[in-house]
Amino acid sequence: MKAVAVIPKKEKSVHLVEMDKPELGDFKDGRGVLVEVLRVGACGTDREINNGEYGVAPRGFDFLVLGHENFGRVAEVGPNVKDLKAGDFVVATVRRPRGSSIYDKIGTQDFTTDEKYYERGISRIHGYMAEYYAESADFLVKIPPAIAEIAVLLEPLSIIEKGLKQASDIQERLKIWQPKTAAVLGTGNVGLLTVMALRMRGYEVHGFGRTPRAGYLNADLLEAIGATYDSTAELALTDSVAKYGQYDLVFECTGFSPIIFDAMQTLNENGILILASVTGGERRTDAVPSDKINQMFVLGNRAMVGTVNANREHFEMGVKDFALCEAMYPGWLGRMLTHKVSGLENYAEIFDILDNPAKYNAIKAYFEVRGF
Ligand code: BGC
Repeated sequence: MKAVAVIPKKEKSVHLVEMDKPELGDFKDGRGVLVEVLRVGACGTDREINNGEYGVAPRGFDFLVLGHENFGRVAEVGPNVKDLKAGDFVVATVRRPRGSSIYDKIGTQDFTTDEKYYERGISRIHGYMAEYYAESADFLVKIPPAIAEIAVLLEPLSIIEKGLKQASDIQERLKIWQPKTAAVLGTGNVGLLTVMALRMRGYEVHGFGRTPRAGYLNADLLEAIGATYDSTAELALTDSVAKYGQYDLVFECTGFSPIIFDAMQTLNENGILILASVTGGERRTDAVPSDKINQMFVLGNRAMVGTVNANREHFEMGVKDFALCEAMYPGWLGRMLTHKVSGLENYAEIFDILDNPAKYNAIKAYFEVRGF
């Protein structure tokens, strides 16, 4: 079968490989599932891996099959799989509990403290940019056919769901927390999905990006589900509180780390800031009003939390938000799927889109590996 791979740490090494179709015999507990891949999304992580910034090949291989945003159809199940059958749509989680930390041992590998982690398509396990993959049923989430069309967006949504779940867990400290307003920093595909998830929870949501409003499709989408959009070129985030008030929750997904210090200053008393950007660079910032920020956090009981990866429960939360969003705003999620590339052999097109965001204005580029 065909797959799209990189040589980890080698810049622009993306290429097509030919591999054996996986087999269920490797799953000794009979819980194996063979999945035919239908769609695979591409994101900044794939671009950074192809830029040689990170990525680790599985043991015994000099290449890593890319792809972690996935959607597929069950082709075959092992004898001990009762929860899935051939023909079911599924999305697989990304990280596996193969580390030695206590979190891996209790099935919360998304909180692993191990430096070496195991993520399909990213670190030490082949990903989903292939015609088939095999996986234990334990890591597959069943997708209702009604949301099949947009289910390739579930993995990025799962990251947000985990962030929101952590926020609500942390806020249990308050006994009563009735958040009403939220700011979402960054309006790319992750930002849009975050705004959606917050709107599904009834928040008044304000999205912020750098792009000017006029003609910006992402801003049209925000407004279509009742959120606002402001370009920070016209309204600085710290000034936005004069317009909208302080926020009960701020979700950062810009990839521009200096903005977190502005975000800290926009939080309401008892509010929470969630950080979700993986910023691998060397950026530094100064002129941070540290006394002010420190005092705000201390006197106002504010909180900040970082979040990465997602576990099964967060994918399941995402399925519910997708179903609700399709019911409330039919077709809205589908508008995020802006760039379809048919066939894994056309991988160069996907990476051209990832490498040239301004040229394509893509919200989500994805492979259609097989029609369904
Ligand atoms: C993936 C996560 C992963 C993270 C770090 C993200 O793109 O969605 O599942 O944990 O990268 O590798």
